[in-house]
Amino acid sequence: MKILLLGSGGREHALAWKMAQSERVEKLYIAPGNAGTCTCGENVAIKADDFEAIKQFVADKGIDMVVVGPEDPLVKGIYDDLKRDPRTKDVPVIGPSKAGAVLEGSKDFAKAFMQRHDIPTARYRTFDGEHLAEGLLFLETLQPPYVLKADGLCAGKGVLILGTLEEARRELREMLGGHEEGDKGHNAAKPKFGDASRRVVIEEFMSGTECSVFVLTDGEHYKILPEAKDYKRIGEGDTGLNTGGMGSVSPVPFAGDEWMKKVEDRIIRPTIEGLRQEGIDYKGFIFFGLISRTNIPACHTSPVKPQPSVGDPYVIEYNCRMGDPETETVMLRLKSDLVDLLEGVARGDLDRRAIAFDERAAVCVMLVSGGYPQAYRKGLPITGIDQVEGSVVFHAGTAFSPSPQSPQMVTAGGRVIAVSSYGKDKEEALRKSFHEAQKINFEGRYFRRDIGADLSESKS
Ligand code: AMP
Ligand code: GLY
Repeated sequence: MKILLLGSGGREHALAWKMAQSERVEKLYIAPGNAGTCTCGENVAIKADDFEAIKQFVADKGIDMVVVGPEDPLVKGIYDDLKRDPRTKDVPVIGPSKAGAVLEGSKDFAKAFMQRHDIPTARYRTFDGEHLAEGLLFLETLQPPYVLKADGLCAGKGVLILGTLEEARRELREMLGGHEEGDKGHNAAKPKFGDASRRVVIEEFMSGTECSVFVLTDGEHYKILPEAKDYKRIGEGDTGLNTGGMGSVSPVPFAGDEWMKKVEDRIIRPTIEGLRQEGIDYKGFIFFGLISRTNIPACHTSPVKPQPSVGDPYVIEYNCRMGDPETETVMLRLKSDLVDLLEGVARGDLDRRAIAFDERAAVCVMLVSGGYPQAYRKGLPITGIDQVEGSVVFHAGTAFSPSPQSPQMVTAGGRVIAVSSYGKDKEEALRKSFHEAQKINFEGRYFRRDIGADLSESKS
């Protein structure tokens, strides 16, 4: 099988690494890929959202399957575009249609979808600039902290959690573009996140422990992949600014059978069933950003009755793709042939494909550029990758410097390299990753040394 994988991050390197192990793969192309993906297949200089070039390439090379890594092309409708073109209409695409990708592309759509299908999530309302006054009043009905979410895609920056009503009111105004009641937009400032925050979801704050759960679906059947926990803040002890993710751990101790059964019964099955009922074409990964909730208000309107013994899973968000850096641990724990599972998605017989997990723990520690997630330098030489032993190095923001004489690997992004390791438990895997991460150097290199430290073996 000839496969084209779209994307260029650590997630795509991990997917490419896993697919390259399959005997089914005759040729793997990665567009555009990075300095690591070229060890798993052939990088192609096409951007993941250049649909015209992608379709031409698929037709020219006789590609048998397109696997979409990031959300951007999905939300822009790559699935539908390939299906519309006579040259590519029969090529399976792993990733949802545009209508399915809206689960990630619009927070308001996702919340309304969950409400329609009785899927547990935080109480919310959505406001646009013309209804600022109502939004400000709604804030007063909530307890701090206040959660404001830009409706559209914001590269992970569109969620604000604010400690005081004053801050929440100010931010709501800025997100919506400073409209006032009765102002039809003539004197309004630009919305803080552009079009993405023309509508804002305000929702109740949920406390608890987060967990990312991944499902692969052919639209009818589904397989649950290993779960993982992501560490989003830049600073140790979960402090400082949000990042794309500083590390991940799998399995997650509290996500035992009892908790996962609740996830499957209350969240996964109703989501797949809901997509089907609404006629939404969805063949690909669904990423459930969940929280095991401990502060469920007595007045909560959810049909789900809280049970204190083990936390109750609630949905924070849906994504229409795999997580990054979760994929860098999930792929280590997936024992089965990923390409076989993807073929099951394409053919609609996923129920007949076997899935098995590695019992060992897997962790990932992300090495990032100095200054990230704010301004950072690119093009800095990277050394020491060849010294790493026993861990898997996944490239995220790396590239080869243009000089063809002595190609030097350099930094090309905020998140640069993920060091993933196995261990008999997460402690052993973390020791390994921290040790090997020290060997990789570039100016300003930083990584969190407390990944996984918050997870005890006890149930949440
Ligand atoms: P999202 O982009 O929706 O995943 O939100 C980013 C992060 O904000 C999540 O991973 C959570 O840590 C946090 N978050 C979002 N919504 C809530 C909520 N309702 N309650 C508590 N934390 C939240
Ligand atoms: N790790 C979170 C994400 O991929 O969105």
